[in-house]
Amino acid sequence: MTIAANYAEFAAREARGVSPAYERLSLAVSRDDEVLALLGTLPPAKRQPNLLFGVVRFLGGPVEDPAAFHDYTVATWPAIEAEVRTRSTQTNEAGRCAVLLPVLAALPQPLALLEVGASAGLCLYPDRYAYRYGDQVVGSGEPVIECVATGMAPPAGLPEVVWRAGLDLNPLHVTDPADVAWLDALIWPEHTHRRARLRAAAAIAAAEPPLLVRGDLVDDLPALAAQAPGGATLVVFHTSVMYHVPALRREAFAGVVRALPGHWIANEASDVLPYDGLPKPPGEALHNVLALDGRPLAWSRSHGQAITWFA
Ligand SMILES: C[S@@+](CC[C@H](N)C(=O)[O-])C[C@H]1O[C@@H](n2cnc3c(N)ncnc32)[C@H](O)[C@@H]1O
Repeated sequence: MTIAANYAEFAAREARGVSPAYERLSLAVSRDDEVLALLGTLPPAKRQPNLLFGVVRFLGGPVEDPAAFHDYTVATWPAIEAEVRTRSTQTNEAGRCAVLLPVLAALPQPLALLEVGASAGLCLYPDRYAYRYGDQVVGSGEPVIECVATGMAPPAGLPEVVWRAGLDLNPLHVTDPADVAWLDALIWPEHTHRRARLRAAAAIAAAEPPLLVRGDLVDDLPALAAQAPGGATLVVFHTSVMYHVPALRREAFAGVVRALPGHWIANEASDVLPYDGLPKPPGEALHNVLALDGRPLAWSRSHGQAITWFA
């Protein structure tokens, strides 16, 4: 896919109906030869809309007005390029816990959670957040994560988590203001509710930081899994990670995780983690597939805002 087509697709499939500013901006970039030429000087993995827009926001540039974005990007390219080359999209969305919760709550308790591609580890606290599935509330306190659930009964309660560990090539730390600023910049412009959720979830994680290990999800998973306490169900999980991982490494990861005791929860796009016989997704917007131990269960929206059960 060309860079222009990639930005047009991001506008149509990811941003439409979710972020008018990014839909507008991404469409404008898809037609902007000057910005496309600058993006063309970057390695392919560094050309993504989310990374460019996040860096411009991080540097204090404009993302609401495409003409101002163009001028800023062309004038500030050396600084943008430097940030783009060193950073990656590490969006950490606690909202994704709303789609993990139905599966986590149904497993034998207590749980030892191990997230690969954990970023700052905010998805390691599903037992600490509150959820609203329609008019049914699970848990209490802040943040309250809203999720439209279809074809399933909301979980009756929260899981019991006795151990939480994360593995990431570049762990971020909620106690480091620069890391939190980058996580904030990755949140889409209009999503004030997600920004508030980041603050609330970061406060929970900062009060009891998870074990975060720098490492690769294939090479370093067995050693971290071996640290999980006995007497708890080990759950290895990942959400929105596998698009970073080459196909052969994804296969290697599946082999490693299947050899571990416990369970494996995946919440990933079906083009990076395909399954046979999936039903049609509910609508054009990008969906992940939620799966337990390789068995697909539900479609989920990318920030955890909806789940449609089909199993
Ligand atoms: C988009 S973030 C998702 C974070 C979190 N799972 C969530 O859903 O909020 C993807 C994370 O995967 C990490 N990652 C990518 N490839 C990895 C690998 N081979 N091993 C470990 N982590 C990896 C990235 O550094 C990044 O923090």
